[in-house]
Amino acid sequence: MPRRPTLIRLALVVAGSFVAACSPTTATRPAASVAAPPPAPAVPPLSLIPQVASLQRAPGSFVLRSGDTLGVPDGDRAAAGAAQWLAERARASRGLALPLATGGDVAAVRFVRDGSVAAAEGYRLVIAPGGVQIRARTDAGLFYGAVTLWQVLTSVPAGAPLPALAIDDAPRFAWRGLMLDSVRHMQTPEEIRTLIEQMAEHKLNVLHWHLTDDQGWRIPIKRYPELTRIGAWRIPPHAGHDGEPKRYGGFYTQAQIRALVAYAAARHITVVPEIDLPGHATAAVASYPRLGVTGKRPKVSVDWGVNTTLYNPSPATVRVMEHVLDEVMALFPSHYIHLGGDEAVKDQWQASPAVQAERRRLGLASDDALQSWFMNQLGSYLGAHGRRMIGWDEILEGGVPGDAVVMSWRGSKGAVEAAGKGHDVILSPAPDLYFDQLQSDRADETTGRIPVKSLADIYAFEPVPKQLDAAGVAHVLGAQANVWTEHMPSFAHVEHAVFPRLDALAEVDWTPVVRRDWHDFLARLPAQLARYRAAGIAYADSAFAPDIAVDADAALASGRTRVTLSNQAKYGTLRYTLDGSAPDAHASVYTAPFEVGLPVTVRAAAYAADGSVLGAPRSRVIDRVALLTRGTTALANCPGNPFRLRVQPLPDVTSLSPVYELPLFNRCQQWADAPLDGIHGLHVVLQRLPNNYALAHDAKLVVQRPHATPFGELVVHLDRCDGEVLNQWTLPDPSRAPRTLTFNAAITPPPGRHTLCFALTAPNDGPLYVFDRVQLLDAVR
Ligand code: ACM
Repeated sequence: MPRRPTLIRLALVVAGSFVAACSPTTATRPAASVAAPPPAPAVPPLSLIPQVASLQRAPGSFVLRSGDTLGVPDGDRAAAGAAQWLAERARASRGLALPLATGGDVAAVRFVRDGSVAAAEGYRLVIAPGGVQIRARTDAGLFYGAVTLWQVLTSVPAGAPLPALAIDDAPRFAWRGLMLDSVRHMQTPEEIRTLIEQMAEHKLNVLHWHLTDDQGWRIPIKRYPELTRIGAWRIPPHAGHDGEPKRYGGFYTQAQIRALVAYAAARHITVVPEIDLPGHATAAVASYPRLGVTGKRPKVSVDWGVNTTLYNPSPATVRVMEHVLDEVMALFPSHYIHLGGDEAVKDQWQASPAVQAERRRLGLASDDALQSWFMNQLGSYLGAHGRRMIGWDEILEGGVPGDAVVMSWRGSKGAVEAAGKGHDVILSPAPDLYFDQLQSDRADETTGRIPVKSLADIYAFEPVPKQLDAAGVAHVLGAQANVWTEHMPSFAHVEHAVFPRLDALAEVDWTPVVRRDWHDFLARLPAQLARYRAAGIAYADSAFAPDIAVDADAALASGRTRVTLSNQAKYGTLRYTLDGSAPDAHASVYTAPFEVGLPVTVRAAAYAADGSVLGAPRSRVIDRVALLTRGTTALANCPGNPFRLRVQPLPDVTSLSPVYELPLFNRCQQWADAPLDGIHGLHVVLQRLPNNYALAHDAKLVVQRPHATPFGELVVHLDRCDGEVLNQWTLPDPSRAPRTLTFNAAITPPPGRHTLCFALTAPNDGPLYVFDRVQLLDAVR
C-alpha cells in the first residue's frame, strides 16, 4: 500500500512502466512454447539452486546408503554442525541414517579443512566412486558444501547413485538477504524457523528482521516494558467481527529471539534487527508519549502507509534509544544493526516549536539534517560498541557517516549515490525485489502490490547498477528481497510470496553472472518444487498455472470459440480436459489453439519433463454468464492514476481469498468495450473495506467526486467516466448496511461495444468500496 508505495509507484507511472492487470477473459496470448515432453536427457540435470560456480562431471558414481558415515575432523564443531545438518536432511528427505564419525579417513562423506580453498564462503565438493569429500577453509564453506551435497542427493531418486563430479563454488555477494516484516503481521517462531531453514537451503545468509513500526513493537525491552505491554497491540477495524481478532499483536520473548538467532547462526545466517527511526514510530510513542513530538498518546496504528508520528529528536530520546540498543545488541550478535530512516515525513517536527528550537540549538539548517543528526547519534553509539549502522537510503539526505551501510529501496539510485560517496550498499529496490508485489496478474493470485514482479523478473534482476565504476562496484555488498506483510496476514501468504521467488533471489545473489540461465533454472526447478512439497511449503505455482484464454467476441456471437493455453513461464507441457475431469499425466497435450462449443469447462495443468506436475490444475467455465461477468481483478482502473493494490477483505483475516483490487487514488473502475448487444440489466457487487490507509502528503492526490447523498453513490457512466449516466445507486449508511452490497437494475444501453465506467462518489474520509464483480444481464431478474 502506500507505505513506500505512493511516491515511488507514482514515479513509476510517470515513467510508463506500470503493468495493468489484464483480463484473462479477453487477453489474447501467444501459444505457450509447449510441445511433447522432450526425451529424458542422458545425464539428468542436477537441481542445484543457486547454480554453482563450476561443475565438472566425471566417470562413475557413488551410492550413499544408510549406515555410511559422515567423517569430521576431531574437535571441529563447525564441521560437525554441517555434518549434523546433512544427516538430518538426508534422514528427512531420503530416509538415510548417516552417523557422524570423527578422526580417520574412511568415512563415506568426509568434511575436510582445506586452506587452499580461497573464497571465504567457498567449498569444493568431490563425488567419486570411492566416496565424497567436502573441502573448505571456513565453517560456512563446509556448510554450503553440505547443502550442495544434499541438493545432489535430492536431485536423483531415492537410492539412486550420485553422479561423480567436482564442484568448485563460492558466492558472488557477501550479503544475500531476506527481510521479514513481523510487525504488520507476525509469524510464529516455528514459522520463522521454516523460513530460516529454507534460506539456508538456498545459501542465503542474512535475515533482516523488521521488528518495530507504527503498527507494533515486537521486541521486549526490559528497561521499557510499555513498548510491548502497550506497543505490541493494535485494535483492528471491525475488531471481533467477520473473522477479525479483538486485538492483533504480540511480541517475541527474549528467549524466543535468542533461540531464533542461534538457530539461524547454526545455518550460517545472521539475523540483523531493525529498529526503525525516526519515523514508523507510532507504536513506540503510543507506549511512551514522551518519545513523541506532541506529548499526546496516539493509538498503535492500524493504518498501512506513511503515518506521520515521529520520535522527538532530543538528547533525552537519544538516551532512551541507546538503552534500547543496549538490549538489542545483547540479543543480536550481528555486526550490523538496522536503524531504519525511511519515510519520516517531517510534519510534526515542522509544527513543533520545541523541535525547531532544538534544531537551531544544534546549528542544523534543515529537518533532514536533524534526522541525520539523530540517527548519527545512534549510529555512533553502535560504532562505539563495535557495531555498524545500516539505514534505508533516506539516510543519505541529511548526510551520514561514511561507515554507515545504505540499503537502497527507492530504486537503485540510492545505491549509486551512496557507493559514489564511499558507502557500502545493499540493493533492495522497490518494486524489483519486493516480494509483496504480486507475482502474476491471475485472478486466483492472492493479495499483493501491483505491478507484478514475476519469477522471471526476480531472476533477471542485476544487483550492480550500471552507473557504478570499479570503486563503486566494490561497495555493493549484495541484494536483498523484502517481505512486507501488510497484505500477508498469514504464513500461507508469506510462503506464497516467497517461494519459489526465493530460488531466483538465491541465484541472483550467489551465482556468477555467466552461469545464470533462465531456461536452465526452470529445468532445475521441478526437483526444488518436490523439495518444497516434501517440506510442506505452500509455494506459489503462479509461473506455471495455465492461463485459459478465449475469443470472447466469437464465443458470444457464435457459441463457439478458440481456446489458447499458456503459462507465465512458458514452461512445461500443458495437458487439458474438456469433460470436467482433472487433467492427469495422460490427458490431451496442448500443442495449438483449439475450437470448442459453449458451454464447456476447460481444465488444464502444466507438467515437467520428468512427468511431475508443476502446479494445481486450473479450470475455466466458458459460457454466456461467465463471458458477461468481470471480477475485481479484471476491471481496469479509470483513466488517471493506475496505482492499485490487491487486498484482503479485512486487515487481519487470514484467508488467501477473496481478494479485492483497490484503486486507492481514484475509486473508479471500468470495463472497456463491454459487449452490450442484447443487454438489459446490470448486476454489481461491492465490498466495503476499512479505510485504513495513511497517505500522508499523497492524500491530496485522491480523487474526490461530488456526491449528492451523505454516503455517496455508485454511478455508471457510458463511454467516458464523465459521460452519460446509465444508472446510479445511493450508497447506504455503513453503520446499518452489510459489508457486501448488491445492486441490480435495468439499463437500456446502446447496442455494440461501449466502455462502462463505475465511479464511486463516497467521501474520501468515509467507507472505502471496491468492486467484487460486475455482470451484464440479458434481463433483470
Ligand atoms: C521501505 O519500503 N519503506 C523501506
